[in-house]
Amino acid sequence: MHDHEAVTRTAEAFHAVYGTAPTGIWAAPGRVNLIGEHTDYNDGFVMPLALPHTTVAAASARPDGVLRLHSGGADGGVVELLIDELRPAPAGTWAAYPAGIVWAMREAGLPVGGADLHYESTVPAGAGLSSSAALEVATALALNDLYGLGLDPQRLARLAQRAENAFVGVPCGIMDQTAAACCTDGHALFLDTRDLTRRQVPFDLAGERLQLLVVDTCVKHELGDGAYAQRRAGCERGARALGVRALRDVPYAHLSEALDKLADEPVVRDLVRHIVTENHRVEEVMSRLDAGDTRAIGPLLTAGHASLRDDFKISCAELDLAVDTAVAAGAVGARMTGGGFGGSAVVLVEEADAKAVTTAVTDAFAAAGFVPPRVFTAAPSAGARRLV
Ligand code: GLA
Repeated sequence: MHDHEAVTRTAEAFHAVYGTAPTGIWAAPGRVNLIGEHTDYNDGFVMPLALPHTTVAAASARPDGVLRLHSGGADGGVVELLIDELRPAPAGTWAAYPAGIVWAMREAGLPVGGADLHYESTVPAGAGLSSSAALEVATALALNDLYGLGLDPQRLARLAQRAENAFVGVPCGIMDQTAAACCTDGHALFLDTRDLTRRQVPFDLAGERLQLLVVDTCVKHELGDGAYAQRRAGCERGARALGVRALRDVPYAHLSEALDKLADEPVVRDLVRHIVTENHRVEEVMSRLDAGDTRAIGPLLTAGHASLRDDFKISCAELDLAVDTAVAAGAVGARMTGGGFGGSAVVLVEEADAKAVTTAVTDAFAAAGFVPPRVFTAAPSAGARRLV
């Protein structure tokens, strides 16, 4: 959906639902993560990029403390809530995400009131592409403007993470919300999740005659089901056992000593190995991109996948097949992206090979009897913005 098309469609739908024109229209993108997986709750490094797919919110403020929410993609009509009565509601519906934003802003003492909101989205849900962060950040940006809060994008991302952690009940890190809020066109975003310093890293795929394919395995990805929280708890246990504040503080050069200390706890040891090597891979990817050698990041992506599969143990047969087939068919590199247990893989390919790699992956899924994957090209796109 192009921006002008999104504006027309969302404004018309808002009018049909609420009977008036919206005050404004805002958009926030989904993301893929290039490298740096499960490092964000270990104070480590990540490098996501925004997708062209967005969640678009048309919104107007209301003076009466009522929050009305409606989505073009969800059944069930308008959800009506009183902002004074918002309480954390784990395992709620889609409306818990925007309601959580209002709750988090009020909890932070920000002068936010009621609103009417209507959403349209092209971010595939449950595909590991951060549709929930897109919904949260589009809402946060809309309220920021409607109520003149003057918050910067990183602050909006933190409020969105707070909403997801405390209101929706998913113990996610800060990567997805920061990607939705802060990415820029043509760049991957390097983020140090400890001090939240950011760097826009040029990622000029078209100029290099490369493409980034996203393979949505259509295996539903659920972060609320406990496996994510379990990995997180294992990492925290590892940090305690090693006497560091977070696994970010284990230097790559001291990895083997750290692993020796964890010999009695093989599960934790493997989690630690993934986090420490993954932080190192993020730094390596950044320096190769800085050196203008985009192709050289391919082996690091593929090594990252092996680490998520073997050490962090969050891949699945469909993701492994996508990655292995893509690499065997000539991809420069490939890995699962996002939380894991399904969702999507990213594949870096020569432009000239994109078709053949796509066909190879699709054929392999058919041969294995898997649901056909959805494959599309992802140009690094813009972060959250006001459209009108
Ligand atoms: C999910 C979470 C993120 C991050 C990734 C894994 O997307 O929301 O905070 O932990 O998984 O890298």
